[in-house]
Amino acid sequence: MSQDKIYSKKLPSVPPFEFNENVAGVFNDMIHRSVPLYRETVKRQAQLAARFYKEGTAVIDLGCSNGNFGMRLLNEMGKHPLHMVAVDNSAPMLQIYQERLDNHPSGDQIELVQAHIQELAMEPASVVVLNLTLQFLPMAERDTLVARIHEALIPGGILLITEKVVHEMESLSALQQEFYYRFKGENGYSNLEISQKRDALENVLVPETVQSHTARFNAAGFTQVDIWQKWFNFTSFICMKDEEKK
Ligand SMILES: C[S@@+](CC[C@H](N)C(=O)[O-])C[C@H]1O[C@@H](n2cnc3c(N)ncnc32)[C@H](O)[C@@H]1O
Repeated sequence: MSQDKIYSKKLPSVPPFEFNENVAGVFNDMIHRSVPLYRETVKRQAQLAARFYKEGTAVIDLGCSNGNFGMRLLNEMGKHPLHMVAVDNSAPMLQIYQERLDNHPSGDQIELVQAHIQELAMEPASVVVLNLTLQFLPMAERDTLVARIHEALIPGGILLITEKVVHEMESLSALQQEFYYRFKGENGYSNLEISQKRDALENVLVPETVQSHTARFNAAGFTQVDIWQKWFNFTSFICMKDEEKK
């Protein structure tokens, strides 16, 4: 796994963060060292997806990157059939994902689509995954996407979403930041790397509060919403679509 050194040298000016070839090349190192409980998140999401998947529907992974969730789900499903669509707008990410699928015996069960997730026509799904991706969308486009996911889910289907969040109280927000930077330092990132990455993500990754997310899920029609994992400023939700009333 190539090491993430993208922000290790002082840059004359820090360009806005992009999921380009450089980032794709070090993505696994970057995400494991930057997202607390990442491995656990993907593992449990794959288990949940396997538990809720219904044949004849799709699992849709929106903002799939290089396929960590999909690869984990393939292993979780074993010999059971799966139909999954994985979507990202970054060509370098999808190229790495495709290479991983080509080397997996049931890799042909996952179809990769290069698109903006806001523009994707979603087929009926029993599971939709939106992991660390809604935070990169313009604020004005987030409600519509979540509403469209609710629409695409079959009754009893689930949305699995993880986001970096911000606390509504300044004191607790500051504490979350402090412990987040401590986590990154413990994982070998220098103060320069931490501060340049923060500058690169300014206005690119725009986090919201847990309350804003919950209000959006409810407005989209999800009445069953749970936080199944939380680490300071990272939150994983499960939103279950109601069964049809008889
Ligand atoms: C932090 S990564 C997601 C990580 C991934 N879900 C995982 O669990 O490993 C965000 C991904 O979303 C993609 N992305 C961001 N905005 C997008 C958009 N509007 N449409 C499609 N993909 C997008 C980026 O290219 C990137 O690969």
